[in-house]
Amino acid sequence: MKEVVVSGIRSTGNLHLGNYYGALSKFVKMQEDYDCLFFIADLHALTTHPDPKLLHSNVKDILAEYLASGIDPEKATIFVQSDVPEIPELYLLLNMHVGIGELMRTASFKDKARKQLGIKTDATKDDDDIERQIIGTDSNKRVNAGLLTYPTLMAVDILIQKANKVPVGKDQEQHLELTRRFARRFNSFYGVDLFPEPTNFNFGDHAVKVPGLDGSGKMGKSEGNCIYLVDDEKTLRKKVMRAVTDQGPAEPNQPISQPVQNLLTLMELTSAPEVVEHYRNAYADCSIRYGDMKKQLAEDILKVTTPIRERYLDIRNDDAFISRVVKAGAEKARERAAKTLAEVRQIMGITKFY
Ligand code: TYM
Repeated sequence: MKEVVVSGIRSTGNLHLGNYYGALSKFVKMQEDYDCLFFIADLHALTTHPDPKLLHSNVKDILAEYLASGIDPEKATIFVQSDVPEIPELYLLLNMHVGIGELMRTASFKDKARKQLGIKTDATKDDDDIERQIIGTDSNKRVNAGLLTYPTLMAVDILIQKANKVPVGKDQEQHLELTRRFARRFNSFYGVDLFPEPTNFNFGDHAVKVPGLDGSGKMGKSEGNCIYLVDDEKTLRKKVMRAVTDQGPAEPNQPISQPVQNLLTLMELTSAPEVVEHYRNAYADCSIRYGDMKKQLAEDILKVTTPIRERYLDIRNDDAFISRVVKAGAEKARERAAKTLAEVRQIMGITKFY
């Protein structure tokens, strides 16, 4: 039997290169050899993007981007999280086994809670202070409980399909660690062997962290430093040409600065190895010209994104195709989820009197 693979992406806007190299490109490869389910995490999106007008169109965008990137509905199951009501039910049940403290200590919770409270992100700030602020805030300025229990919902997405492998970027590893912990805890509390402990999957490499164009951290929708898969040629070139670099190396073989390393990391993902080598050497011998480097990078990124963008523009307008795909996907995902949920109910003693 093939191993089960589950992964999802939140419907919070178009997909960027981080999503592509951290997740989507792996989905496309994995569908060949695994029993894959890929979904749109629209319930997770509600924790930060509760906009009814945008939600539906965001879900459709990502469905079209999944299909345009090469996920084949004949090979993999594609579905929308909210089409599977078994997920919220198991989320409630699993939450009975999850500690508030362990959820509060999650890095993504602290980060997003700070944002919801309007506290500037500061890694050195002591966490007690944040916890006090969360408890002390009035109901107008609140951290929503859905954000706290986000990892439970994510664990359920994975466990309800009894997944073995979860292709995600580096930023999701802590959530995956919690998923394993919750699976172990459930199995041992009830003395069962129900849930496998899922692991990240990277085709033998380390988990990927795609950097942004602003010289600092990772590429992310909320950081405003993204290259989107559907950016048109002009926009994409402009973004790359404006990427932050440095003043240029002052002496041979000096350590590579963070902004330039970020561009090299993007090149490693999109360009041929000899191109990366060329610019590394050019930095080392101080002959590097950032304008040329950026032109090359934009060219190589466009080679990846242009075919995706073209297919996306077609698929985005094909409502009949999209609805056929998600309907079939929802049926398959629900059937499997219902089976696991029935087992959990039985194990937890929720049985009917009639
Ligand atoms: P999300 O929507 O933030 O991101 C989707 C996927 O893209 C990856 N990613 C990156 N990888 C490398 N570098 C980056 N700069 C970068 N930015 C994003 C993420 O690691 C992720 O794989 N909680 C999840 C969604 C989710 C999920 C799940 C994933 C919900 N349930 C069950 C797997 C299994 C999230 O917010 O991803």
